[in-house]
Amino acid sequence: MTDVSDDEICNRSGNRPFGEVIEASLSRRNFLAGGMATAAATFLVGGGGSIMGATTAGAGPRGNPGRLLRFEAVGPSTADAVVVPPGYDVRVFAKWGDPILPSGPAWNEDASNTAEEQSQQIGMGHDGMSYFPMGRGRAGSQSGMLVMNHEFTDGNLLFPDGEENWTAEKTVKEQWAHGVSVLEVTQNRRTREWSIVDSPRNRRISPLTPMTFSGPATGHRLLQTDADPDGTTPIGTVNNCANGQTPWKTYLTCEENFNGYFWQLDEGEFSDEQAELFDRYGVGGQGFGYQWASTDERFRADLNPNEPNRFGWVVEIDPMRPDSTPVKRTALGRVKHEGAVVTESTRKHAVVYMGDDQRFDYIYKYVSARPWRRMRSEGVSPLDEGTLYVARFDEDGTGVWLPLVHGEGPLTAENGFADQGDVLVKTRLAADLLGATPMDRPEWTAVDPKTQDVYCTLTNNTRREADNTDAANPRGPNDWGHIIRWSEAGGDNASSAPFEWDLFLLAGPGDGVDGSTIPADAAFGSPDGCWFDADGRFWIQTDGRQPVESNDQMVVADPDTGEIKRFLVGVRGCEVTGVVTTPDRRTMFVNIQHPGADGTPEDPTLESSWPDGTRPRPATLVITKEDGFRIGT
Ligand code: FEO
Ligand code: CA
Ligand code: CA
Repeated sequence: MTDVSDDEICNRSGNRPFGEVIEASLSRRNFLAGGMATAAATFLVGGGGSIMGATTAGAGPRGNPGRLLRFEAVGPSTADAVVVPPGYDVRVFAKWGDPILPSGPAWNEDASNTAEEQSQQIGMGHDGMSYFPMGRGRAGSQSGMLVMNHEFTDGNLLFPDGEENWTAEKTVKEQWAHGVSVLEVTQNRRTREWSIVDSPRNRRISPLTPMTFSGPATGHRLLQTDADPDGTTPIGTVNNCANGQTPWKTYLTCEENFNGYFWQLDEGEFSDEQAELFDRYGVGGQGFGYQWASTDERFRADLNPNEPNRFGWVVEIDPMRPDSTPVKRTALGRVKHEGAVVTESTRKHAVVYMGDDQRFDYIYKYVSARPWRRMRSEGVSPLDEGTLYVARFDEDGTGVWLPLVHGEGPLTAENGFADQGDVLVKTRLAADLLGATPMDRPEWTAVDPKTQDVYCTLTNNTRREADNTDAANPRGPNDWGHIIRWSEAGGDNASSAPFEWDLFLLAGPGDGVDGSTIPADAAFGSPDGCWFDADGRFWIQTDGRQPVESNDQMVVADPDTGEIKRFLVGVRGCEVTGVVTTPDRRTMFVNIQHPGADGTPEDPTLESSWPDGTRPRPATLVITKEDGFRIGT
């Protein structure tokens, strides 16, 4: 979701531990010396390849074209249409309102579907997405579970009369338009068309779905409510942003801007501690304007001050077991979780990297206590026992993982952390005390399958001031965003030893303008979604203002060669977010969120009527190559 929900500053910790020097930060592993101007004019990205000008193979003496990015790059676009390279086919799939079962209720163009019907239809605000193959080899690339998040809703599109005349029915419909869709999908071998299967595995998960807590904060006093005095059975998930996929084939959905759904009208009774939590997590007033609290008292934070604490978690969903209850994994901490990318360390621990998307908030990682297979054979979730860390990025290009462990360092009872549950419910406050590095809005993380290097998009931060930059966040204001990258000690993602980091790229107009380190013909801003495919292509999606006249877009980089090329441009007013391919890389799924974000069908300034020529609908794109080969080649 675009800036409106993320532009507050909730971090008043004063963590500004590092200086303003940029040289050390700019691709230390490459060649740089000298100042910003030099860096911007000659910056290299990746394992030594030049990103400057290396956008299109065969475009002159520019770059070092490798074998991964052989498509013809597309230009910027403001059309109300999806643009992909020549030789690619793009189709629309899984639109908001489509039934999750073929026998389900059809979508009504006038948005008159009821809440009950919406509970059997795909949600709005398509975001992070994973694909779970069913079957081995080719079969698994033609049949699988497609699981996607529905981050937020637009009441002006969801209801015939928009957000006027609010009712309890509207609250429930809007709740069912949030959450997660779990869909069995299959590809017709002859037509190559994808469709949703009439499968007992298909289900919707929403802010109304019963869940459980697991891990160290389960039952904690700050998770207890009148409706759930044990603090063990939360209801629902909300603002499901990015995602993760575990090696044991479950889906992780991340609760980002949960604060925006609560009203805090200062009518209740709450402790200093609760007030501090409201402040640090941004709970206040009438949130982002959602009206649920007017009919559903659970979302009145003033009446239920612990209810907001039951959100902000990473939730695990088993797509293969439709009767399974989603689990909020408290060991992964409570922040505005953007995503949770999971990788396997050299010693087979599960390692989860996570951004907390707020201006001046932090980057986290979680390491399972033991190898994940052993833990599962013991009947213990690898996401329940482990260590959570927060990142400090030092100026010299090294970084430190600071453990969020009760009793260690300042995380003691005297400072408000009486047990590990306190540390996890109050993760942001604990990370403040440890001196983590405030970042320019950490969004998605991704792990390079060839090197195990980790990348994190820092989307932008117009509130960072010029005298408040540091090596890891070198521009103030940061209008266009950047991508930071790190290598763990010994190549072991589970390591708690100091790591090495650099800046993979600074986004912007390109060719050095505004300090950007990308080629002008791949200009982009506001990097957000990102994902590595199994061949090592690094897909980068945008959300927000672009430095060229263009809708939001998706570019792809080859970190080996430094090439970067624009692959896709979305429709008007949309955000491009969520990307995955089938294991054979022959089908790519990409989500288009909030097409025509500011328009309504009655509004003559309507930006988008995609994809049906009517009321705009978020949807999934299915991209294939006409010759049937791998995406990107
Ligand atoms: Fe849901 Fe920070 O994007
Ligand atoms: Ca995002
Ligand atoms: Ca964003």
